[in-house]
Amino acid sequence: MGKIILTGDRPTGRLHIGHYVGSLKGRVELQNSGEFEKVFIMIADAQALTDNADNPEKVRQNVLEVALDYLACGLDPKKSTIFVQSQIPQLCELTCYYMNLVTVSRLQRNPTVKSEIQQRNFEASIPVGFFAYPISQASDITAFKATTVPVGEDQEPMLEQTREIVRRFNMIYNTDTLVEPEILLPKNKACLRLPGTDGKAKMSKSLGNCIYLSDEPDVIKQKIMNMYTDPNHIKVSDPGQIEGNTVFTYLDAFCKDEDFTKYLPDYANLDELKAHYQRGGLGDVKVKKFLNAILQEELEPIRNRRKEYQKDIASVYKMLKDGCDVARETAAKTLHEVKDAMKINYFDDVELLNQQINKYKD
Ligand code: TRP
Repeated sequence: MGKIILTGDRPTGRLHIGHYVGSLKGRVELQNSGEFEKVFIMIADAQALTDNADNPEKVRQNVLEVALDYLACGLDPKKSTIFVQSQIPQLCELTCYYMNLVTVSRLQRNPTVKSEIQQRNFEASIPVGFFAYPISQASDITAFKATTVPVGEDQEPMLEQTREIVRRFNMIYNTDTLVEPEILLPKNKACLRLPGTDGKAKMSKSLGNCIYLSDEPDVIKQKIMNMYTDPNHIKVSDPGQIEGNTVFTYLDAFCKDEDFTKYLPDYANLDELKAHYQRGGLGDVKVKKFLNAILQEELEPIRNRRKEYQKDIASVYKMLKDGCDVARETAAKTLHEVKDAMKINYFDDVELLNQQINKYKD
């Protein structure tokens, strides 16, 4: 059987360059590689609601924003099925059965959920849906029999949870219905978790440290010029630090050797630039201008494509609706197999009927 991709994002804001290098860019490459039989990309609105129950309008608005960002990056509805999680009721049904295969203490050990509970001040009152979202994520993945899940490293615990559910289900019901998925992480370490422009560990909307895919050129430039570098690099002649220097982390994530030929021909590659910075004599502004040139080049076509799609919002919704129809059909097929395996297909089970008739024969 061919390899199948499923991945997705919570629609809680526009997508930023952290999403882009961490996952989106790779997804487009995978989509175009021809190595995958099917590609499913899910806008995880139901999961977004697990910690935004009091703000449904935010989720509702951002379903479209995320869809536009997807299309802008080059996800192509002809090659990938792009759909909205809440429109696939089979996912809830699967979750319901998987819940019986997972213990509360197992969920409590999930490090990603743990840190999210802290970030959201949920300690005193965790919504049940939020607590259990790793189980629902297992449904998202298994409903499509995904073999490959390209995501950021923070999703590793969800994949581990999914694999456990798959193994347990297949063992209990003596079946091979469910497929154990693998995580696919970006190869470039700098892309695993791109820090915010303020140097904080994560790019996040609430910290106001994001560069969005849809940002205008002057906004991008200003965000780069204000970026956190090495606070001790005061004079140009001072030796500078690369570690924890956000501008260099972004260069690690974005810069190619050709960019030097194009924008900074005094250096052959990033190693030379870093060495000069560490020696002293290289100013932050020069490095930031270089990063700006690279990012502007990368983001311009994305922003322009987004503007094209923005002109016809109705067809973006239509594209999502069509994607939901395809996804629903696939998920329904898996759910059917799951119910068969669980033997809760009472009305299709002739053997069961005969068995019960015999039982009550006198
Ligand atoms: N948890 C993912 C995120 O926060 C979104 C998501 C939901 C997902 N279901 C998924 C990702 C299934 C991969 C596979 O971005």
